[in-house]
Formats: sequence, structure tokens, C-alpha cells
Amino acid sequence: MKVLVIGSGGREHTIVWKIAQSPKVDKIYCAPGNGGISELAECVDINVMDKEKMTAFAKENSIDLAVVAPDDPLVDGMADALEAAGIRAFGPKANAAIIEGSKAFSKELMKKYNIPTANYEVFTESAPAIEYLKKGTFPAVIKADGLALGKGVIIAQNLAEAEDAVHEMIDNGKFGKSGSRVVIEDYLTGPEVSVLAFTDGKTVKPMVSAQDHKRAYDNDEGLNTGGMGTFSPSRLYDKAKADECMENIFMPTIKAMAAEGRPFKGVLYFGLMMTDSGVKVIEYNCRFGDPETQVVLPRLKTDLVDIMEAVIDERLDEIDIEWEDNAAVCVVMASGGYPVKYEKGYEISGLDDVRDDNDIIVFHAGTAVKDGRFVTNGGRVLGVTAVAENLDKAIEKAYTAVDKIHFKDAHFRHDIGIKKY
Ligand code: AMP
Ligand code: GLY
Repeated sequence: MKVLVIGSGGREHTIVWKIAQSPKVDKIYCAPGNGGISELAECVDINVMDKEKMTAFAKENSIDLAVVAPDDPLVDGMADALEAAGIRAFGPKANAAIIEGSKAFSKELMKKYNIPTANYEVFTESAPAIEYLKKGTFPAVIKADGLALGKGVIIAQNLAEAEDAVHEMIDNGKFGKSGSRVVIEDYLTGPEVSVLAFTDGKTVKPMVSAQDHKRAYDNDEGLNTGGMGTFSPSRLYDKAKADECMENIFMPTIKAMAAEGRPFKGVLYFGLMMTDSGVKVIEYNCRFGDPETQVVLPRLKTDLVDIMEAVIDERLDEIDIEWEDNAAVCVVMASGGYPVKYEKGYEISGLDDVRDDNDIIVFHAGTAVKDGRFVTNGGRVLGVTAVAENLDKAIEKAYTAVDKIHFKDAHFRHDIGIKKY
């Protein structure tokens, strides 16, 4: 088989790495890919949003399976375009990807189908939004409706901050069209767990759980980032929680999307909060999470291509998905200054020192190859991942590997996986 993976980050490196293990696969392309991915796949310089070029490339190269990994092209209809061109595509169509593309849509869906989430209201004008905030309590949560590179959520501590956020989004167009509509919702508290699930629109098969670390610095301080590290499994997500989620959240969501005429086929990501009054949905993503994928797929025993084909053919109920009884930890090594301002082009050394260790996999998020050497090429540079029999051992292994890898101004958190909540 010939497979095309669309995207360029650590998540895509992980998907390519897993697909490369399938005996069915002869050739992998990645558009546009990155330095690390180029060791496993032929990288082709096509923008992830360019549906015309992407479908033309897929047709010319007789691609048997195209995997659309990032949110933007999914919400924009990349899977629809590939399918219309006769290419088998893994990833939801635009009418289902809206579950991530519009928070107003996903909140209405949850309300209509009684799926537990924070109470909310939707506004398209600032005056009524501010009136509503004046009557509420703080902190309050203000979210841009559309995709905003993970920056569209403001936790306002008081009315002044809330007013600022509303004006910025609605009146000043801070997130463009994405913020012209805002969701204001109640602030919930509790630990967060990510559960990614395969679904073919009828059956849902959750993957092993994971937890992300969104803040830039140790002890959850500093700015929000795309994710500074992950671990799997979550210590909090036991069988009882998994059963609760299947009954109250996962299956109801799949049924709701089907009932709305928007069957969701692909990976649905459930961002969950464990509150005192049960598990609630914080967000849905229409795709594999990044960097959750880096700790989830290394624990998957089953051939990923078999699962993806079963999803496309709507026979996910027929396939047994098996997981290793182990743990994985991913420590993100980022460029100094990330998530604000950072330099690119620094040489990365030490990768060969961890290459022979089968329990360490270095997923590249933002690297390029220059004169035959890897250089930094993004905010998040590497996801240094370790697998071991338990979390404590995986943490130790991951940090031993991180200590061997160097680039100028490298920044990483020292506490990935240690939180016991
Ligand atoms: P989202 O982009 O929806 O995942 O939101 C980003 C982060 O904001 C989440 O991971 C939470 O940590 C936080 N957040 C979002 N909604 C709420 C809420 N209703 N209450 C408390 N924190 C929230
Ligand atoms: N790790 C959060 C996300 O993928 O959106």
C-alpha cells in the first residue's frame, strides 16, 4: 500500500512511525512533513490546506490511504475533497469536523443530547455578552467560536478581564471570523484527562487515556502552549471512569452526530474534566491530539492501518484493538522563548546517543535537515518519548534521554508525568 499522511508535527511523525510498522505498507509520503519524518517517509512540499494540489498528488501517485491529521484541513473539507477524487481518506468530513470547528455547535449538541458539559451562552455582540457576564460569577470562561490555534480560550478572573476579552474577540477581530461569535461558559475545576477514540460513526473504541501539560513552565506556570508533554495512562482514569464516559459521553456523542446527519468517522478527541459532579466535556477535537498521540500510539499493539481501514469501511465493531500493559511519557523539548518568540536553525546534537534504545523514540515536531544534520525549525522541536512497564520508570527513562540531547536555548519542563492528580 501507498499511504499519504498530511501534516508536519510530532503527532504526524508518530502516525508515520506507527504506519511504517504495518507489513501492508510499502511506501509513505508526508505532506509537508519535517526533518524527522523524512527518515521514514518521502516528504512532499504541499501546504496542508491546498486541497487541489493534495488530491492531484494523491491521484498521480495512486495513494491507497490518505490520513488527514491536523484540524484546519479537516474543518476545511480536506477529507471530503480526497474522497470526491476517489481517494480513501481517514478523517472526518467537514460536516462532522465542525465538532471542533465551532464551539457553539459542540455546546448546542451537548445541550440537546444531555452530554455533561459546563453551562453556557453564545453571543455575537459585545453588549449583551457583557450584561451576561455582569450577572455571573468569576472566573468566567470566554471562548472564540472557531479555530484559534489553541489560543481562543480566556479564563477571566474579573469583569474587567472579561470585558477586554469580549471586546478583543467580537469588536476588534482578534481571531478574525473565529472570534466574531463567542461562547461564555461556567468555570469548572478538576483534573483534565484526554481520551482519543476511534469511531466509524456507529461504533466507538476509546484508546488508552493520557494527560497533557499545557503550561510552559514547571508546576503549571507560564503561558499556555500547544502542549509541553504528556503521559499515558492517566492515574485517574480507571475502569469506573471509563464506563461512566462510555455511557454518558462517548456513545451519546457518536449517536448525536449520526442523528444530526453528521456521522463522525476518524479519531474523536474527548477533552474531559473530572469534576466533583462527574466527568464533563471541556472540548472535542476532530483528530488525534498533539502531543497525546506521542504517548498513545507507542502503546498500540494492533496494526494502525487495519484500524483505519475498518473505520473507513464502517466495520470497526469487527476489529479487536489491543494495547500494551505499559506506560509512556513524552517530554517536549522546545525552543527558548516558546510560545512567544524564538529562533530557528540551531543544530541538534545527541540524537544518535539515544537511537539504539528501543524504549526511546524521539518524535520530531519542528525540525529540518540542513547539510545532513537536524536543526530546530519550530517552537516545539522534539517529543522525547519513553515506554516502560510503569509511569515512574518511563519518566526516568525519558529524562535520561532528554539529558543527552542538546540544542541552543532548549527549554523543557522537568515535571512531566509526576502529577498524581
Ligand atoms: P480548550 O481550547 O477548549 O481545550 O480550552 C483550553 C483549556 O482551557 C482547557 O484545557 C482547560 O484547561 C481550560 N478550560 C476550558 N474550558 C474550561 C471551563 N469551562 N472551566 C475551566 N477551565 C476550562
Ligand atoms: N493536546 C491538545 C490538542 O491536541 O489539541
